[in-house]
Amino acid sequence: MTPDDPRHVNAQRIETHEIHVITDDRISRATEIAIGLVDKPGALLPVLHAIQDELSYIPAEVVPGIAKVLNLSRAEIHGVISFYHLFRTQPAGEKTIFICRAESCQAMGSRELEAHAKASLGIDFHETTADGAFSLEPVYCLGNCACSPAIMINERVHSRVTPDYFDELIRAG
Ligand code: FES
Repeated sequence: MTPDDPRHVNAQRIETHEIHVITDDRISRATEIAIGLVDKPGALLPVLHAIQDELSYIPAEVVPGIAKVLNLSRAEIHGVISFYHLFRTQPAGEKTIFICRAESCQAMGSRELEAHAKASLGIDFHETTADGAFSLEPVYCLGNCACSPAIMINERVHSRVTPDYFDELIRAG
């Protein structure tokens, strides 16, 4: 099928339309969440948490709707999103890797492990790999201090994680 082929043009239209519909759904849902929590004192943080819990991140497109409902400026909302690192502006990866940065893990080499993880995945904390497979997040104690350094991938905690063991876990997917 060449780019001029009508089927190609239609396929492009359908694709664009689907993306548009998904985005609209997200905007509507985020606005509904804001309306549901608008009476809460300091509503912005609970609204942002609820949106992230549901969508896995806070798309830039939902900000104008939230701003309108909460009677805030877009700049105020973007300011809060960028201030709190736990808010994501990109979709979460299929798996989220949490690296413990608390005292016991630091004493056992978690800084080196963190540097290795960032270099081998090619991302920083709060980012997602280009293929969407992994996100990387810091965490402050996983309750596994006796087996430091610890990481958690999705809900599973891994103990005494060396850079080689980290690579094995990533290869295992
Ligand atoms: S300090 Fe890392 S698990 Fe407790």
